[in-house]
Amino acid sequence: MGNSKGWEWEKVNANQARWQMPTEDGVYYAQKWSGAGRKDVLDLGAGLGRHSIWFAKQGLQVSALDISAYAIQHLNEWAEREQLTIRTAVGDMLELPYPDSSFDCVFVYHAISHADTEGVKQVIREIERVLRPGGELYTSICSKESLDFVESGFPKIDANTLLYTEDGPDKDVPHFYADVDDILELFQHFKIEKIRHVDYVYINGHKQDSKYYYLNAYRK
Ligand SMILES: C[S@@+](CC[C@H](N)C(=O)[O-])C[C@H]1O[C@@H](n2cnc3c(N)ncnc32)[C@H](O)[C@@H]1O
Repeated sequence: MGNSKGWEWEKVNANQARWQMPTEDGVYYAQKWSGAGRKDVLDLGAGLGRHSIWFAKQGLQVSALDISAYAIQHLNEWAEREQLTIRTAVGDMLELPYPDSSFDCVFVYHAISHADTEGVKQVIREIERVLRPGGELYTSICSKESLDFVESGFPKIDANTLLYTEDGPDKDVPHFYADVDDILELFQHFKIEKIRHVDYVYINGHKQDSKYYYLNAYRK
């Protein structure tokens, strides 16, 4: 298991606006979870906090963790401006600073893949530990069908993981890629409800060739 490295958010100043609006999935899960009477939600790898803020606005009790101190400071200031209470922590998703069975739901958007294979397995064990029985996980995982995985030429640090070496916020950050069989094995202790495979053709007006799996599953 390699050392964890988060995003250097300082490098994305010009693009921060897109990271401050919740994704469609974030909006949907906030509605699903608050409607179902779920209360305690962990936003893992929360980044600047676009989902944490949205979840808190829907009345959920939100904890947010990210390894980037810059991101968490941004989130704290944003929450203060909105007069929302969000429990934040700078920390590593491989070693969560929460007791067992702390959360009804865990939301991990474009973050679980930032570890090598052993690291991803460890994060999943940690998620299972902090979820209450019957608690729900929603996460995205990079797909092995993404062009990056097939032909980027980034160094492979294990069979599923590339180390991004291009300059940018995620330089030197591991990216773990999976297929359906990998996902079924990784989440074998969960009850899987749905797996989607999404092909992003355009993002922000730019042609893309990135693919992700989206999974929702319950702790048994
Ligand atoms: C692509 S960003 C997504 C941020 C947020 N989930 C969102 O959708 O706006 C990935 C985030 O994962 C964080 N991250 C990467 N490795 C981490 C680790 N080991 N522990 C905690 N956070 C980590 C990064 O710092 C970054 O903020």
